[in-house]
Amino acid sequence: MVDKDSHDCAASPFRIRLYSDPVLREKAFPVQAITDVERKLAEDMLATMYASPIGVGLAAPQVGILKRLIVIDLDRDASEESPSVLFNPTIQSLAGEATEEEGCLSFPGITADVKRAARAVVTAQDIDGEPVQIEAEDLLARALQHEIDHLDGILFIDYVRGLKRQLLRGKLRKLRQQSEQ
Ligand code: NI
Repeated sequence: MVDKDSHDCAASPFRIRLYSDPVLREKAFPVQAITDVERKLAEDMLATMYASPIGVGLAAPQVGILKRLIVIDLDRDASEESPSVLFNPTIQSLAGEATEEEGCLSFPGITADVKRAARAVVTAQDIDGEPVQIEAEDLLARALQHEIDHLDGILFIDYVRGLKRQLLRGKLRKLRQQSEQ
């Protein structure tokens, strides 16, 4: 997910995989044990997300790693709330409905209105391997659904249908050409 505010860019540990990279369509594997390797991966994913000017969420397949791990930080500037590092996140329930504009770090320059559930209950393991349950609404519920979709090879453009999808096609073609160069 992306935010529209801009921030300074720092060094990024990973290259973010762009649309047309087949890894974005793969299903990620559960993380069996949360070791230092997984914790370092989560830290590097956060650094990669913060290095982009607009990222508020990132899933491991977006850096080419097929593990069920997502990171989310909706409020990048405020340090009071720590970012969410979620291993094996699972949606337990969804409720309501909301349509908002969405973007994705794998789709630079592309946004689309996406209808999702307005509320979500998600269980996961945190960076220490402890079980957590998140009752989310609004942007957090949206970000969780977007990032968990990435773990199953589902992309936000998949929700764009009909005429709007046709209008997106030209932009997607351009992005595909850029990322294949
Ligand atoms: Ni995304």
